[in-house]
Amino acid sequence: MTHPTNRIFSGIQPTGNLHLGNYLGAIRNWVGMQKDYECIFCIVDMHAITVPQDPAALRQSTREVTAAYIASGIDPDECVIFNQSTVSGHAELAWILGCHAPMGWLNRMTQFKEKAGKKRDQAMIGLYSYPVLMAADILLYKATDVPVGEDQKQHLELARDIAGAFNRFYDVEYFPLPEPRIFGTATRVMSLRDGTAKMSKSDPSDMSRITFTDDADAIAGKIRRAKTDPEPLPSEAAGLEGRPEADNLVGIYGALAGQTVDEVLAEFGGKGFADFKRGLSDVAVQVLSPITAEMQRMLADPAYVDSILHKGYERANAIAAPNLAEVKELVGFLAR
Ligand code: TYM
Repeated sequence: MTHPTNRIFSGIQPTGNLHLGNYLGAIRNWVGMQKDYECIFCIVDMHAITVPQDPAALRQSTREVTAAYIASGIDPDECVIFNQSTVSGHAELAWILGCHAPMGWLNRMTQFKEKAGKKRDQAMIGLYSYPVLMAADILLYKATDVPVGEDQKQHLELARDIAGAFNRFYDVEYFPLPEPRIFGTATRVMSLRDGTAKMSKSDPSDMSRITFTDDADAIAGKIRRAKTDPEPLPSEAAGLEGRPEADNLVGIYGALAGQTVDEVLAEFGGKGFADFKRGLSDVAVQVLSPITAEMQRMLADPAYVDSILHKGYERANAIAAPNLAEVKELVGFLAR
């Protein structure tokens, strides 16, 4: 059985606007890895419908995420870019893996607990089994490495556990155990309104996040109004302890400017937030504006975006189909 040695799989849900956390925690790291790995980048539209979606908005968002990948520097000729629902193997493998994933494992998933809240009985089965589909995404391609932000760590551990359970049950080293690749200086970007909450698409306040649809004025406005504390910035990283908002903004600055926290503080230590925020707006606009402009240019030609996804589907399916056939054989399904 052949195993790829360096294949990346990762994905983003096409739900609402991409934000700075998606960019710094995921997409930007992918751009840097594409030379060294065979890369498969997915737009996970099946994960998106685990919470209600408007069909037209879902279609549009799928194109937007595709355009954002390419505008951020992912090369569609080198990398496979496709939307999950086009490759039916994801759903098929998810079913098989679901038959090897005890409920106890899924009951531990903190993201489900947060999203379902107190009304667990009313939560959809799709939301509950979401991590099994995520495991299928990765294992369908026998991906070896999965670059994500910190919040996906638990899901990846589950994917490894499920892969191990499958391998043990059929007594074969079929699936490689995928390695979580959580790196960079912004693995967990926090809300601009609350340094203890993750920046997320689902936060009701648009002021909590910088998105790929914000223009320079909107970016500057959000940063100007970002929550801070009254103290000037410290000169050393240790001084950020207990100051979550300052810590987050300095981290964002560093990630955008390619500087360490110490380098940022060497420049801004002792200064007030007004100065720092001006600097942060400048660097955010400098990094994001060319990307969002290119994204809008691409979206003006949806046929181009769709053609990328179609080519991606063909390439993804060419890898997925034989793997799925092998899995079905292992499981004991008679082939047609
Ligand atoms: P999603 O769509 O919530 O987020 C996409 C990527 O962005 C990262 N991210 C962040 N990183 C840093 N700071 C933040 N505030 C922040 N918010 C989001 C996420 O960690 C992620 O890397 N379940 C996944 C999608 C998925 C997937 C997969 C990922 C489905 N199948 C297979 C990898 C492999 C999700 O909901 O990501």
